[in-house]
Amino acid sequence: MGAMKNLTELPEWQALGAHQPAIAQQHMRHWFANDPARAAQFNVSAAGIRLDYSRNRIDQHTISLLCHLAQAVELPQKIHALIAGQLVNSTHKLPALHTALRDQAATPIHVQGENIAPLIALTQQRIYDFVHAIHSQTWRGATGKTITHIVNIGIGGSHLGPMMSVHALKEHAVSDLQFHFLSTIDHSLLNDILHSIDAEKTLFIISSKSFSTLETLTNARTIMNWLQQRLGKTDVSQHFIAITAAKQKALAFGIAEQHIFPLWDWVGGRYSIWSAIGLPLLLLIGQKQFSEFLSGAYAMDQHFQQAPFKENMPILMALLSIWYINFFAATAQVIAPYSYRLRDLVPYLQQAEMESNGKSTNLQHAAISYMTGPIIFGAEGCNAQHSYHQLLHQGQRMVPVDFLLLENNTEHLNKLHHDILLASGLSQAQALMRGKTYDEAYQELVAADVTADEACQLAQHQVLPGNRPSNILFLSALTPKTMGALLALYEHKIFVEGAIWGINSFDQWGVELGKQLLPTILQQIQA
Ligand code: F6P
Repeated sequence: MGAMKNLTELPEWQALGAHQPAIAQQHMRHWFANDPARAAQFNVSAAGIRLDYSRNRIDQHTISLLCHLAQAVELPQKIHALIAGQLVNSTHKLPALHTALRDQAATPIHVQGENIAPLIALTQQRIYDFVHAIHSQTWRGATGKTITHIVNIGIGGSHLGPMMSVHALKEHAVSDLQFHFLSTIDHSLLNDILHSIDAEKTLFIISSKSFSTLETLTNARTIMNWLQQRLGKTDVSQHFIAITAAKQKALAFGIAEQHIFPLWDWVGGRYSIWSAIGLPLLLLIGQKQFSEFLSGAYAMDQHFQQAPFKENMPILMALLSIWYINFFAATAQVIAPYSYRLRDLVPYLQQAEMESNGKSTNLQHAAISYMTGPIIFGAEGCNAQHSYHQLLHQGQRMVPVDFLLLENNTEHLNKLHHDILLASGLSQAQALMRGKTYDEAYQELVAADVTADEACQLAQHQVLPGNRPSNILFLSALTPKTMGALLALYEHKIFVEGAIWGINSFDQWGVELGKQLLPTILQQIQA
């Protein structure tokens, strides 16, 4: 793409605009009725995940046009730049090397002259040794007791990934450790946590890339004072470890040097679950399964780099997202995991997508004229059906949905429950796609003995327009490996969107102003 050429001036963009009206006037229910092979045509599998994207407002030509757009913005070169460690985070002049953290080939990558592969391996070994010390009960608290509670103190990327993954993979626990997540500054949460732990048996992980986040440091300081009072000891260092890219600040805070695990400025907070920030997950599932988590992500990375556009799951998901946001004026997307274990995936992906792509300035420092990052919302699917799905079916907006379904539930629970859960997700996707016509509603009412007059009126309320798009992501099962692949899938989807929109997906200047204003307002409140 010519460096300064506006995205919307590209012939490939305009071709999509010209194609849109032809698609917009067709209904998916007719496509399915006329083409029994449709479901099979729009399917792709990678790394233990199958994407069924047949319920989208697309035909093969749409996909070709979207792929031409991806080619026009030089997506392959941009993917290469990401993985190779080029300065894709342009406003900070930094690479974004979350893929290096899970690179099973340990490919040498130099950042500021230093090969980071050995650095990553060394840190992994340190955290594996630490986890072994906790699991084998050789690590003891200040009074000699073993550790039974873990409290992660962090917020944003230093909270959502650890919490989400610990809840998601609970079934794969290799220890009885109890996990708690302290994020907000609201003292109520702190209170709840302090009431549910045993001070002598608790390890606090202070997770903060910057080690300057007000909420995290205030919570950590309050806890440190509380612990010293509780234990009657001044040296409580055995109870605190820090994960940070700002080692000096952690030292100044009072964390022992050997208890500090590094993170690096070339890993974004919201992309950091693969680093030492993933420690709570590692404590839960152990080294072997954590390696599988990394290898699942690596498998998705390989797929992302190697598969042609039309078979490339993250690229297809990003292109569909662009199609709806920029050509159908959709502003939101729903994440609907039909899995209680995946309930925290929604806030995790909210940060991943909205902090990455909620931008209005392009890489050429100019204001952009088209829509970018979608509003992400959602909840565990079964619950959401009974709250806001009404709007998805009959509201005036088009809100594309990602349904996440587990083909197998490895928890050996009641099969009936699992079957109903699966059927619920599938029937929602089907209802969004096919809708209900006036005639269908009318016939149903008359068959239920409603009078013809009343049926005429009621049927109007029971019409569902349908033609509402969704993806279905089938995970073979919820394992460390598929979980790794799923998170990497969304990371790459978000990256490709940003690459097409020509924005920097790796900065977050928008969150700074509130932080700047806070001290003065705090002073005013305190005065
Ligand atoms: O304020 C936003 C943010 O900077 C996020 O990007 C980040 O994940 C979070 O705060 C926490 O930052 P840190 O890990 O530096 O405490």
